[in-house]
Amino acid sequence: MKVSIIGTGYVGITTGACLAYLGHEVTCIDSDERKIALLRAGKTPIYEPFLTELLADAQRNLRYCTKYAGAIQDADVIFIAVGTPPLADGSPDLRYLSQAARGIGEHYAGDFVVVVNKSTVPIGSGNWVGSLVRESYEQHHGHKANGHFSVASNPEFLREGTALSDSLYPDRVVIGSDDERSLETLYSLYRPILDQTFAPPPYLPRPEEVGAVPLISTDLASAELIKYAANAFLALKISYINEIGQLAEKVGADIIQVAKGIGLDARIGTRFLQAGIGWGGSCFGKDTAALVSTATEYNLSMPIVAAAREINRRQRDRVVEKLLGELKILKGRSIGLLGLAFKPNTDDLREAPAIDIARKLIDRGCKVKVHDPVAMERFQQEYGDMGAVCCTTPEEVADDVDALVLVTEWQQYRELDWEALAAKMRSRIVLDGRNALDRARLTRFGFRYVGVAG
Ligand code: UDX
Repeated sequence: MKVSIIGTGYVGITTGACLAYLGHEVTCIDSDERKIALLRAGKTPIYEPFLTELLADAQRNLRYCTKYAGAIQDADVIFIAVGTPPLADGSPDLRYLSQAARGIGEHYAGDFVVVVNKSTVPIGSGNWVGSLVRESYEQHHGHKANGHFSVASNPEFLREGTALSDSLYPDRVVIGSDDERSLETLYSLYRPILDQTFAPPPYLPRPEEVGAVPLISTDLASAELIKYAANAFLALKISYINEIGQLAEKVGADIIQVAKGIGLDARIGTRFLQAGIGWGGSCFGKDTAALVSTATEYNLSMPIVAAAREINRRQRDRVVEKLLGELKILKGRSIGLLGLAFKPNTDDLREAPAIDIARKLIDRGCKVKVHDPVAMERFQQEYGDMGAVCCTTPEEVADDVDALVLVTEWQQYRELDWEALAAKMRSRIVLDGRNALDRARLTRFGFRYVGVAG
């Protein structure tokens, strides 16, 4: 099938690489010439494991363009995967979505195309995008758009860092439209994934347990709500374990054992029960805020989701409180942060706890030293003026600091020579923000080990 994808961010480029690998003819469009030049040169604008390899393997099915003209006119499916960044009031900025919809209306010239919302958009956006495409189509073509396009929602559930595996071997595929023909088109598009009939790339082997992938084929509003409900549930699972973690700390319980003990109940499940400094990233914060705000439009409150957000906010304050508890005075202290990305295996800093924590510590008069295995460059570009000292190695961070905080649980940090780090520090305090380090080992090296919950 002929597929055009508007936007080459995490979602767009991952979707493009996977669909091209499956044999579809894919055109990726982005108005950012720098991104397109990188992609044409075989590089990627984001850090995502195996993306360069998959794009190279699917190269003969991929084209990159900066303009809609010549890129969408005869597509069978057009994905809108543009950014919907939060505005100052927390609501998503739909400017790029509306530009994409109008661009489609202007340049589409075939018989029938399915316009798919792949970005996480507010509930109801499908109808809105439909009206924008229709209006623009009729304005530029001089005749009615009836029958030439329909709108569908196909939310993504990919996690950064494992985006390709999540896309090729998903737990489920969700498609939603109020038009039967769109659902049939998307079913055909995803058939190789649903039936798992493709030969896996050698670097992304099919997990043994993966069989046929369930398909949820539903109406537009339900597909849109599924995405929000899934992300909010995962977010509240994390906040729940963090809330229990606070109590565990008071009563002297071990939160890791508690999480295991409840997670092994199949109704609960062990995943997303890792207590720590909480979630970050582009989705959980934005999507939970959008869910609460959509509910408000309908005169509904969502106290559970709102509480999950509040707990997550508090976890970041707790890092500062714990350091204060250990060091008594923060002014003039030197604190090292290990990890900046909102989670390992990505260079994404959106809503990363590290940024908030660094700011809070700097505001309290600390010198903050930072390191991340892949996000340093991005940090310097986006937060270079914050006043944090960028270090090239974890050893440099440890040099003469009063405490180290593990913010992102990169594998590299678990494997550090902590004994050597201890020797460099002014005082041997480690705050393990992810409960990821070996407490007994660190204690042996003379560290005062502080977990974040328990
Ligand atoms: C998430 C969803 O998982 C994905 O389905 C959706 O499409 C996009 O949002 P992502 O933001 O890439 O994906 O990362 P995820 O792995 O879900 O982690 C989100 C945050 O939660 C990270 O900051 C992570 O450190 C934190 N987290 C995760 C915890 O604190 N504890 C956990 O147990 C799991």
